[in-house]
Amino acid sequence: MVLLHDLSQLPPADAGALHELAQSVETFQLLASSLQLGLFDALETPKNAEELADELGLNSVITRKCCDALTGSGFLLRKDGSYALSDLSKTFLLKTSPYYQGDLIGLLKKTRIERWGRISDALKSGPVGLERNFESVFDERFIRAMAQGAMRGGLQKTIEILGGHREFMNARRLLDLGGGHALYSIAFAQLNPSLDVRLLDLPPVVENVARRNISAYRADRVTAVPGDFTQDDLGEGYDVVFASDVLYRPRESLGPVLGRIHSSLKDNGLFISKHWHIDDPVKDITAVYFDLMFSITDGAERIYSTEAFSKILESHGFSIEEVHDFNHRFHPSRMIIARKVKP
Ligand SMILES: C[S@@+](CC[C@H](N)C(=O)[O-])C[C@H]1O[C@@H](n2cnc3c(N)ncnc32)[C@H](O)[C@@H]1O
Repeated sequence: MVLLHDLSQLPPADAGALHELAQSVETFQLLASSLQLGLFDALETPKNAEELADELGLNSVITRKCCDALTGSGFLLRKDGSYALSDLSKTFLLKTSPYYQGDLIGLLKKTRIERWGRISDALKSGPVGLERNFESVFDERFIRAMAQGAMRGGLQKTIEILGGHREFMNARRLLDLGGGHALYSIAFAQLNPSLDVRLLDLPPVVENVARRNISAYRADRVTAVPGDFTQDDLGEGYDVVFASDVLYRPRESLGPVLGRIHSSLKDNGLFISKHWHIDDPVKDITAVYFDLMFSITDGAERIYSTEAFSKILESHGFSIEEVHDFNHRFHPSRMIIARKVKP
């Protein structure tokens, strides 16, 4: 059907947002490929496109065009025919930077293909299933990506909140459940000089990532223990159990883990939960997308509102003492500090 319309009339809304959105997909592809090919590390010393292409074994014409696109997008600076890194790239895209984000960007790209690429199928026929099981998601690259995500602000905010918490600062024994890369454990031991930290995570994560970081930081009060928190012994008598981004589980499997956390704490001990929750779809838009991403592949409930999660905690013998809102665009976390109240 042809709609007859006054062709001189501009649209009543600006198409710029749609254009920028589409272009950001291309920018993301370019960024992910440039990282994968080592382009940013190679530009730590400025060079022209031919020198860069030569060093990395790339096509020089396309390399120049990519460098121009990266310049236009704020990742590179161009001066006298040479390309150099912008501050943004020096901070986040150089492997030697403590804030390097390369594995996280790689993970986002993979998620786009594996999960977001199937959203139409899921919409039409329900969750499509994931080819790998939930546990095999946690490979070395994923854990490094989690460490890089934490370094964007979530870790620092956690330290800020807990540094002002008297009981945390007086604690002697802490369990970091699903502590992965160990950066939270290491930072806790740095924050509280009397604290012994035990990190529990799956065996490959402990061997390949946690122990390496612990020894690199010479964190001798942090011990990484391999195990599965759904079945292995968690230990007991902890002053604090901390869990960050590990309890995105359906209620039926969340309950037993909370029961195990409860038993591992000493009487009146603290459970500190740091997770994304959805309380407001606008404010928590990052968590809304995270929740949608899960539902493309599996139908289980994994992300809760702060209130629903708090009620689950209460029904497992905890009382809620404090809720901290990270109030951050891409860390829609709430930290819930709960106390063990029942035997
Ligand atoms: C999303 S990562 C979070 C890592 C870290 N706590 C953080 O906040 O950055 C989830 C972690 O939980 C661990 N994990 C998942 N299921 C587990 C299980 N059954 N037993 C032990 N660790 C588990 C994963 O290996 C991974 O390190």
